[in-house]
Amino acid sequence: MSQIAIDGPAGVGKSTAAKNIAAAKNFMYVDTGAMYRTIGLACLERGIDVADEEKVSECCAGADIDIKYIDGVQHMYLEGRDVSTDIRKEEVGKAASDVSKFAAVRERLVALQQDLGNRYDVVMDGRDIGTKVLVNADLKVYLTATSQCRAERRYKELIAKGETCVLEDIKKDIEDRDRNDMTRAISPLRKADDAIEIDTSEMTAQEVTDEIIRLFEEKNGSKTC
Ligand code: DC
Repeated sequence: MSQIAIDGPAGVGKSTAAKNIAAAKNFMYVDTGAMYRTIGLACLERGIDVADEEKVSECCAGADIDIKYIDGVQHMYLEGRDVSTDIRKEEVGKAASDVSKFAAVRERLVALQQDLGNRYDVVMDGRDIGTKVLVNADLKVYLTATSQCRAERRYKELIAKGETCVLEDIKKDIEDRDRNDMTRAISPLRKADDAIEIDTSEMTAQEVTDEIIRLFEEKNGSKTC
């Protein structure tokens, strides 16, 4: 099986690149953030304090979480309900970052991610893919961009969707999330020693995609299976 691991902070363009690569190489795109978001949503819906490790761990152990691929697109299910849209809300992203600190949550989701990585050709994105989930990946990439640049990209996306937002607030949220994800005790966000770092600040999504495919093919030939 072929494995491409992409890590990096919030809003750096991991998922756009990963989706494009999956389409180009006929790999499965595994969005691990969506899994943490599903646990975050489960806690929010049950009124559980996302800082309460015992309650969050209990919720995670008991939650009926499923992942399905429909026309190549990952869908997340919570108690049989497709929550793929609900998990995209900003408050769910914050809750995901909080619940992802806890060992019970990480153990359950890492096992699921490793199982997918063992069974399919995958391009997987997240925060600990190169350092923990797919330690033997064929290619590990760590994407970076300044928080100003990431905030501006997110701002433009939201404005294009007709939402009202303030650039400074988005930048602050991104920096808070970076701090949360980089300073937790278990599997904090960091570049794996053998990952290739790409600063995407001055690159288009297509350029990032092409560069990762080029690196993969350079290391592994143009194998697709
Ligand atoms: O990539 P995202 O915004 O969907 O991720 C939401 C949160 O989930 C992120 O802030 C931290 C957590 N996460 C994680 O701890 N490990 C991963 N592999 C993916 C996400």
